[in-house]
Amino acid sequence: MAQLAARIQRLQPSPVRDILHVINQPGMISFAGGLPAAESFPNIDPAGIPAEKLQYGASEGEAELRQRIADDLTQRGLKTDPEFVLVLSGSQQGIDLVAKLLIESGTRVAVESPTYLAALQVFTLLGAHYTTFVPDDTSSITKNPPTLTYAIPTFQNPTGHCYSRAERQALARACDETNSILFEDDPYRDLVYDECERTPVCSMLKKTQWIYQSSFSKSLAPGLRLGYLTCSPELFPHLVQLKQAADLHSNRISQHLVLQLLRADDTSERLENAVNHYRQKRNFFDGQLKKHFEDIAQWAVPAGGLFFWLQLKLARSVDTRSLLTKAIARNVAFMPGEPFFTAPPTDTNSIRLNFSYASNNDTEKGLNVLSTLLREHG
Ligand SMILES: Cc1ncc(COP(=O)(O)O)c(C=O)c1O
Repeated sequence: MAQLAARIQRLQPSPVRDILHVINQPGMISFAGGLPAAESFPNIDPAGIPAEKLQYGASEGEAELRQRIADDLTQRGLKTDPEFVLVLSGSQQGIDLVAKLLIESGTRVAVESPTYLAALQVFTLLGAHYTTFVPDDTSSITKNPPTLTYAIPTFQNPTGHCYSRAERQALARACDETNSILFEDDPYRDLVYDECERTPVCSMLKKTQWIYQSSFSKSLAPGLRLGYLTCSPELFPHLVQLKQAADLHSNRISQHLVLQLLRADDTSERLENAVNHYRQKRNFFDGQLKKHFEDIAQWAVPAGGLFFWLQLKLARSVDTRSLLTKAIARNVAFMPGEPFFTAPPTDTNSIRLNFSYASNNDTEKGLNVLSTLLREHG
């Protein structure tokens, strides 16, 4: 048996990716992954791709795409120069590169509780020790200063929460006071259904270093595998070298397609249509939740993003992981709450439900099955 690196003992499977293969089973109704609706995908014409895009390219990304990203970032309040934009092979790669840059065994990392489970997967692999915080109380950051603070302030995964201006300022202050590097993950910002504050927290920092990243997965299509980051100038060269070491550069054909899509005349109309579609789906989902879950769960209607986070209020606590097996047997998939926590409490009594993927018909059927199961087991 080959000697594996000691860190592999800390490697956990990703429950979401494990569930993805189930989603494709015929008849399965899935509320599990963060899958955008296929009907929101843009039309792509691969016919016009210049042959030069088949050649190796720059690790930082295609110059025109970096310029376009820098312009968009500046417009959203984070003034950025294209020379500090790094194109990523999905924003998941940004998590990997930042973790490799900053985390070794015992490094203190502050994360929201709950938080994005695939970020926990990477941070834990590299040896993170966690401090946790919630949007309206960041005092744990000042009490026990972390090297890195990871946050998803806009339509958080899994809770859907969008930080108020005061919460954004408090997080920026806590990082500044402790010199903790802020890593702001912002893949859902374009999927906005109700007015809310979306100013990047990184733009509110006064002195500490920072990394800000976003993605084209939710606003265009995840199969393109493209995201991007920008950061404090001192961190940038290291992240570029880590990118070189990881994959040389991101797919140039995807970069070409994304730039064409961003430049297309109908780009804002396409996004607006997608957002309207998701808003309707969210409202329909909320209506069905009220019908089936009113007495057994509580939730906040998310102002954007792709998820409802349900806190169950049953007489008995429920092991939502074993409930998942039972739900899958009845052709319904969802995400148990436990993997979104750093040290899973024995009972979190929470589940995450994606509202963008299932049809309205399936949503009605699937939520009915799920609430019946919960009533049987709670
Ligand atoms: C908070 C967060 N960050 C990063 C990602 C990774 O996205 P991608 O690699 O598709 O850009 C996701 C995907 O769901 C996410 O929810």
